[in-house]
Amino acid sequence: MAKEEKGTKKSPDKGTTKGPDKGTPKGPDKGTTKGPDKGKKKSADKGGKKSADKGKKKSADKLSFAQTVSNNVFAMKLAGKYTRLMVVAAFISTVFGYFEWVFFDGVFIRKIVQALDSNASFRSVLGFIGIMTAVFFLIELYNKYADNVIYPLETIKLYGGIYKQLFAKAKNVELKCYEDPDFYDKYTMAIDGAEEKICAIVKRFWGFLVSLPALGVVFYLMYDIDHYAVLFIISPLIGNFIFGNYKRIYEYKRYQAQVPGNKVHNYVSRMMYLPDGAKEMRLSNVFALLRKQYSEATEKNVRAAVKYAFANCSLSFWRITFTFTIIFEGVLFYASYRTLVSKTISLSQLAIMTSLMVAMTWMLITAFEDIVELMKNGVFINNLRTFLEYEEQIPQDQGGVMPEGFESLEFRNVCFSYKDEETIRDLSFKIDNGDIVALVGHNGAGKTTIIKLLLRFYDPTSGEILLNGRNIKEYDLRAYRRLFATTFQDFAIFAMSVKENVLMGRHYENEDEIVHRALRRAGILEKVESLPKGVDTVMTKEFDKEGAVFSGGQHQKLAVARTFAKESPVKIFDEPSSALDPIAEYDLFKNILKEGRTHTMVFISHRLSSVKNCDKVFMLEKGTIVERGSHRELIDAHGKYAKMYIRQAMNYLAVEKEEEVIL
Ligand SMILES: Nc1ncnc2c1ncn2[C@@H]1O[C@H](COP(=O)(O)OP(=O)(O)O)[C@@H](O)[C@H]1O
Ligand SMILES: [Mg+2]
Repeated sequence: MAKEEKGTKKSPDKGTTKGPDKGTPKGPDKGTTKGPDKGKKKSADKGGKKSADKGKKKSADKLSFAQTVSNNVFAMKLAGKYTRLMVVAAFISTVFGYFEWVFFDGVFIRKIVQALDSNASFRSVLGFIGIMTAVFFLIELYNKYADNVIYPLETIKLYGGIYKQLFAKAKNVELKCYEDPDFYDKYTMAIDGAEEKICAIVKRFWGFLVSLPALGVVFYLMYDIDHYAVLFIISPLIGNFIFGNYKRIYEYKRYQAQVPGNKVHNYVSRMMYLPDGAKEMRLSNVFALLRKQYSEATEKNVRAAVKYAFANCSLSFWRITFTFTIIFEGVLFYASYRTLVSKTISLSQLAIMTSLMVAMTWMLITAFEDIVELMKNGVFINNLRTFLEYEEQIPQDQGGVMPEGFESLEFRNVCFSYKDEETIRDLSFKIDNGDIVALVGHNGAGKTTIIKLLLRFYDPTSGEILLNGRNIKEYDLRAYRRLFATTFQDFAIFAMSVKENVLMGRHYENEDEIVHRALRRAGILEKVESLPKGVDTVMTKEFDKEGAVFSGGQHQKLAVARTFAKESPVKIFDEPSSALDPIAEYDLFKNILKEGRTHTMVFISHRLSSVKNCDKVFMLEKGTIVERGSHRELIDAHGKYAKMYIRQAMNYLAVEKEEEVIL
C-alpha cells in the first residue's frame, strides 16, 4: 500500500518532468527525491485539460498514424522556423534527463553498491560521488537556465512568429472562408493556444524519441542481471497501454456526454455577462428560464459523470496496480527470493535490479504519456496545418496587370451562387466613367452580392467581369481594389481613433484636411469636434475609458466618411443611410451626389427617393436586372420600379391613394 501511494505520488511528477526534473538523486528511493517540478506538470495538465476540453471534440476526426507523425513533424519544423534555440534546448534537456535517469540507476547505484560490496576504500567512493555530484549539478544548472531563461524568451518569439503567420494567412484568404463554418472552426481551433501546443509538441517529440534508446539501455542492463526479471515489464505495459488507454477512451466518452450540457452552461453564462441580454433580462422573467436551462444541463452532466464514474474508477485502479504495485512488489519478491532463498544473486544485484525496475517503469509511463499527447496534439496541428496550407483561390496578394485608371466596368452574363441556390443569374450591365448608378431592389435581391463580386471577394461561377475591357482576374488584386472606395452595409468600426477609422491606414500629405472634409460631408464633423480629443478620440471603450460611443447612425456616417476620404475613382455606397433619419439621409445623398461630379458612383439603396438623381437605375430581382433606365424612364414605364416607388412614397407621405403621390 505504501508503495502504491508512492507510485501514485510519483507518477504526476515524473509524467512530464522526466529526468531533468528529477533533481539530484540522493538515494535509491527516488520516490522522495524526484519530481520537484510539480508545477510544471500542473501547467502541462492545465494546457492538456484545456486542449482536452476543446481538443477532444476535434479528436472525433481521427487521424491515421502516418498523419499524426507527419503533423508532429510539421509542428517541429514550424517551431524550428521561429526558434531553433528552443528546439535544440529541449533536445538537450531531454537527453540530460534520460542520461540522469539511466546513469543514476544503471551506473551510479551499481558502482556504489559494488564498491560497498567489495569493501573498496571510502576515498574511491567519495571521488566517484564527487564527480557525479558535479555532473548532476551542472545538468541542473543547465535545466534551470533553460526553464527560466531560454524557454520563456523563445516562447515569446514562437508566439510572435506563429501569430504573424496566422494573421497573414487570415488576411489573405478569400472572404468565402469566413462564411464557411468548417473553415472558420478550423481557424479558431488553429489559433486557440497554438504556441502552447507547439511548445508541448517540441518537448514530447524529443521525449518520445530519446526514451526509445534510453529504454533499450535500461532493458539491456536488467537483462544482463537477470533474463527473467525483464518479464516484469509486461506489467506496466499492460497498465499503461491497455488500462491507461481505456481510461482515456472512457474519459473522452464522459467528456462527449457532457458537451451538450457544457454548451448550455456556456450559453447561459454568456447571456449573463454580455450586455446583449441585460435589458430584456431586467424587463422580463427570462432569467427564470435561463436558470432552469442551467439546472437541467447540470443534472445531465451529473448523470454523465455518474455513468462513467465506476468504469473510470476501476480502470484507474487497475492502471495503478499493473503499472506500480505488481512490478514493484513483484520484483522485490522475486529478487528477494533469489537473494535470500536460492542465493543466486547478490545483495548488490538486488539493489540494482529494483532501482532499474523503478527507472524502467517511469520511463514507460513517460513514453506512454508522450505518445498520448503527441496523438492529441496531432489533431490540433491538423487544424493549424489545414489552415496554414490552405491554398487561396483569390489571394489578396495576387499579382497581375496594373490597371490604368477607370474607364468602364462591365458584368457580362455573370452567374454566382454562394452554395446551391443561384444568387446572381445571367447579370449584364456596364458602368462607364463618370456614371452615377443606383442598384435598387428588395432585400435579398443580390445587391450586396454584386458589390462583393465587383470587388473580387468572390469570383463568378460563370460569366465575366471586365475592367476597361479586361477580365478583372488578370489585374493585380490590390491595385484593382484601390480603384474603389466602399462603404459596406456591414461595416466595422475599429477600436482606434476617429482619424484612423477614416483614413484606415492610408497616408496622405494633407491628412487632417482630408479627414475634416470627409467628416463634414458625412455629416458627423460636428459630433467629432464635440469629443474631448476631436479626431484623435478613440472609438469604443475597449482600450480607452474616454473612448467615444456612437449611435448606429453616427457609426454609419463615420463609415461613409471613409469612402469620401479615400482617393479612388469609383465610390460605392451600400445602403449608406439605412440607420439615418430622413433629414440626415437627404443631406448625405446631397453630399454623395456632389462627389459624383468628379467620380464614378455606385450606390445601393432600397429607398428609391434617394436614387432619383442617378443617371442609371438598375432594378434587381432575384439576382438579375428586371428594369433599367433613368428614374424618369422607369416611372414612365409603370413597371416594378414605379410600383415600388409609389408604395414607398405612400408610406413616407402617409397618403392613402396612389394618385396622391407626386412623381
Ligand atoms: N455569405 C452568404 N452565404 C450564403 N448566402 C448568402 C450570403 N450572403 C448573402 N446570401 C444570400 O444571397 C442573397 C442575396 O443577398 P444580398 O446580396 O446580401 O442581398 P441584398 O443586398 O440585395 O439585400 C440572399 O438570399 C442572401 O440570403
Ligand atoms: Mg445588401
